Amino acid sequence: MLYNVLIVERNRLYLEKMAAVIQSLPGFELAARFQEPLEALGQGKVFKPNLILLDIDMDDASSLVKDFTEEFPKASIVCTGEKWQGDSASHFVKAGARGYLIKPFTANEFKSAIESFAKSGMESASQVLTFFSPKGKSGKTTLVASLALALARTTGEQVGVIDADLQFCDMGLFFNLDPASTIVEAVRDINFLSPISLASYFCEVEPNLRVLCGTRNPSLIDRVDIPSFEALIKMSRSLFRYVLIDVPSGFCPTSIAAAEMSDTTYLMTMLSGTYELQHLSRAREMFQDWEDIDERLKVVITRVSPCSEKERQRLSNDLGYSVEAIIPNEYKLVSEAANAGRIALDVGGASLFSLAVGRLAESISLHHHWEAP
Ligand SMILES: Nc1ncnc2c1ncn2[C@@H]1O[C@H](COP(=O)(O)OP(=O)(O)OP(=O)(O)O)[C@@H](O)[C@H]1O
Ligand SMILES: [Mg+2]
Repeated sequence: MLYNVLIVERNRLYLEKMAAVIQSLPGFELAARFQEPLEALGQGKVFKPNLILLDIDMDDASSLVKDFTEEFPKASIVCTGEKWQGDSASHFVKAGARGYLIKPFTANEFKSAIESFAKSGMESASQVLTFFSPKGKSGKTTLVASLALALARTTGEQVGVIDADLQFCDMGLFFNLDPASTIVEAVRDINFLSPISLASYFCEVEPNLRVLCGTRNPSLIDRVDIPSFEALIKMSRSLFRYVLIDVPSGFCPTSIAAAEMSDTTYLMTMLSGTYELQHLSRAREMFQDWEDIDERLKVVITRVSPCSEKERQRLSNDLGYSVEAIIPNEYKLVSEAANAGRIALDVGGASLFSLAVGRLAESISLHHHWEAP
């Protein structure tokens, strides 16, 4: 595709630099450049741009983005700023922007950013899913790993996993990864990053599945402060269509922050004795102040046998609230997969576990209720 680019940039120096970058790249043509947004709005149409770089380092930038999307409905609007504006980014996206670039940028950075925006966009519809359990050993990490893979494969969309189980993280082991950087470096650098540079902190598992591994050592937990962790989640929204977060078990600042920042929190427990369901209900009470608790908090119970619709309904009736999904008891499959550094979904292709996880992926992407396989 040939890009016909219109640049709107108040700062003359940046304007020159950007124009030079565009002119140096095959596949990109400089259609026009403006220092005044209003001039671009009035005169830009004749150049028929399909890509607009819009300076958003000014007051009222969201309404400007809106004006440009209305005036140029066929063009992709990419915001350019000197600094990542985490709080405003979602407004720009809602107003119609397709991406966000930090100035100045090199030709390579620009090209890979545009390619990535073309693939994923800065989706306003990105979904952040947090997996929370009142106690440890609930089958959280097992589910997150397989679900991420299922989502990536069935939807073809960009999927990101953040291992925020800071002290005893094992997502890296599940995916058999040897990460060059982890959540510790990502939160340390977050204020200087843009979505594109953040992507390199994640390990690529498949072309559309990336994992940000947890700390290398439990003592590093102090290096992950909550505001930076929140900024990381926010920025990840513009990289991925689905962001899955594995958090420490129990209520702690990290698990609470992730739950508050997410669109859906999965409250999980594994059946093994007698108290799990009581703990589940007590944990659910902690979320009672969420006005939209029924939409935002979904219960998933693992190691359920039989894994049938009837059993799901029986559990829902006993608990007095809806159980969204149940995952079958497949200890042999999941433990053998984990020991081999493989993902259970891959090992047990036609297993009940894979089918149940596949159904969950489907229910997330198609926004309908889970049904037993
Ligand atoms: N569906 C399942 N059926 C049977 N056993 C399972 C199932 N899912 C996970 N397990 C087993 O339960 C144990 C805990 O699983 P996992 O590590 O996924 O849980 P977790 O909640 O992430 O635990 P942690 O608190 O250590 O983070 C593992 O031994 C795993 O093999
Ligand atoms: Mg775990």
